[in-house]
Amino acid sequence: MCGIVGYIGDKDINSVLMAGLWRLEYRGYDSSGVASVMDGDIDVRKVKGRLMNLQKILSDKPLSGTIGIGHTRWATHGEPSDQNAHPQVGCKNQVAVVHNGIIENYYSLKEELLKRKHFFKSDTDTEVIAHLIEENYEDDLKESVLKSISKLKGSYAIAVICNAEPDKIVVYKYGSPLIVGIGKNENIIASDITALLDHTKDIITMNDGELGVIQKNKVEFFNNENKKVTKEKKKIKWSAESLGKGDFPHYMLKEIHEQPNVIKKNIKLKIKGNEFNLGKNFNFSPKELANLSHIIIQACGTSWHAGYVGKYLFEDFARIRTEIDISSEFRYRNPIRDGAPLVMAITQSGETADTLAGLREAKAKFLKILSLVNVQGSTIARESDSTIYLDAGPEIGVASTKAFTSQLFQLYLLSLYLAKLKWTLNDSEISKKIKEIKALPKKMKKILEKEKEIKKIAKKFKNAKDFMFIGRGINYPSALEGALKLKEISYIHATGYPAGEMKHGPIALISEGSPVVAIATKSSVYEKMLSNIEELKSRKAKVIVIGTEGDNIIKKLGNDVFYIPECTENLSPILVSIPLQLFAYHIAVLNDRDVDRPRNLAKSVTVE
Ligand code: F6R
Repeated sequence: MCGIVGYIGDKDINSVLMAGLWRLEYRGYDSSGVASVMDGDIDVRKVKGRLMNLQKILSDKPLSGTIGIGHTRWATHGEPSDQNAHPQVGCKNQVAVVHNGIIENYYSLKEELLKRKHFFKSDTDTEVIAHLIEENYEDDLKESVLKSISKLKGSYAIAVICNAEPDKIVVYKYGSPLIVGIGKNENIIASDITALLDHTKDIITMNDGELGVIQKNKVEFFNNENKKVTKEKKKIKWSAESLGKGDFPHYMLKEIHEQPNVIKKNIKLKIKGNEFNLGKNFNFSPKELANLSHIIIQACGTSWHAGYVGKYLFEDFARIRTEIDISSEFRYRNPIRDGAPLVMAITQSGETADTLAGLREAKAKFLKILSLVNVQGSTIARESDSTIYLDAGPEIGVASTKAFTSQLFQLYLLSLYLAKLKWTLNDSEISKKIKEIKALPKKMKKILEKEKEIKKIAKKFKNAKDFMFIGRGINYPSALEGALKLKEISYIHATGYPAGEMKHGPIALISEGSPVVAIATKSSVYEKMLSNIEELKSRKAKVIVIGTEGDNIIKKLGNDVFYIPECTENLSPILVSIPLQLFAYHIAVLNDRDVDRPRNLAKSVTVE
């Protein structure tokens, strides 16, 4: 939520900051702005709305200088407006600040600053930081930032420039992500590595409580006591090319189509014969894992849905009791501490504030943490005892697609690995399951080749106002995910429900023509699903069925049917998710929605 970028070097400041902001736009798009220092003055351009508005302003009136900071905003305090856009400056226009996060005690700080005759131009929490730094400024920006941040409560990553020190950007991180890219005669900072990739692959990830002084040929880090901190550079694997849309009209569609290759790559990386290699960051010992008493999964949104599928897998294959919780709930309940549980955090971004808070809560109770993360070096990956990377490549579309199927894949592999350690599946059962996994990419491609069929169904239902998604067993979470995908990008109301629960209340919503998406692939609950569909049909619902190839019964039962290739019940959520993603995508496009940047959302949710 909110993206920040900063650059110091010889390249054109306008194009570097704009390119960085385009990469970060998925983090928020309520307003944007940039600032530089030129001839002893802070120069700011900022505007409400999409980044295109800022681009127009900069082409008419570009910034000059060799240092600059930029921001793309997801509004928290203060409505989206020009004044509330970042950068924020103090009364004397001495410093400019961009900020990602929330200052929880901003109200009392603002009151005190007002009493000391500061005047405010915005409703943002960020503006208090600019005033504090200006007030504390003597002749050292680093020291005034350190002094000011000691007053702040909340989570924040900030970048600050000062008119009197045009040779440095001072950055500070607490709770929100901040990464420094190390270049030749240039350095760049950003909320996320995607904004650095055009310049360098050498990065330094900042930790909470660290301040950085970023100069053209030097970067230095300090702790809260102003003591120097030594930090290691790391090379990132993602390439700048992987960040483009290719020939696709939207990132979301590109990412949906990338899924067979993501799974193929993961198979190559993580399956060696009959053995599993979950990566070098997965460092729990087999003994530790074999002795687990239970698993607690905590995650948000789509990642929570993946975790829900994980519960079925761990319980079925490895016979390990598994709890699943939404992070913002997990954090505030008081789980019973017994046995030797493993807490799992599942997250694409690795920065979701609720998931991170859940992880820290579990750590404080001395529980072991395993995370499933896509973004390398992200906070959750760094704070976990072990991490399995999703290896899905950068996911830019706000609605998660390829990261979700990769999460399902990792959970499947992990459950097989645990089953092997606990002897709940024998070697020949495992090799059979590995064979089934290896057939996945081809089956996924086959589904994608039938995209037109889904588009045709989407056309029929594009004007519907309310959808119900139903499934049972391991495909109940698939129904939840199908409904979430549809509502978040099309703004059409959709509810996911376990099919067997319909008769206990929600069936009252069904009347003639009500659209219901039913997942009725061949499984242990297939017959039960058929009965549930009959119940809906007899109330004249219009049922879109996702079924298994060769099933003629559902052809008669469903108003529309989409077939996926045959596969085992426990692998089916990976295949089922593809038509659900395509259905949501096409309905949203047909309704003219901004698929990659749905309203009110941001990809990396760094506020609680
Ligand atoms: C929906 C979606 C969100 C995220 C959620 C958690 O398509 O992407 O529901 O899944 O905000 O994000 P991560 O996985 O980054 O923790």
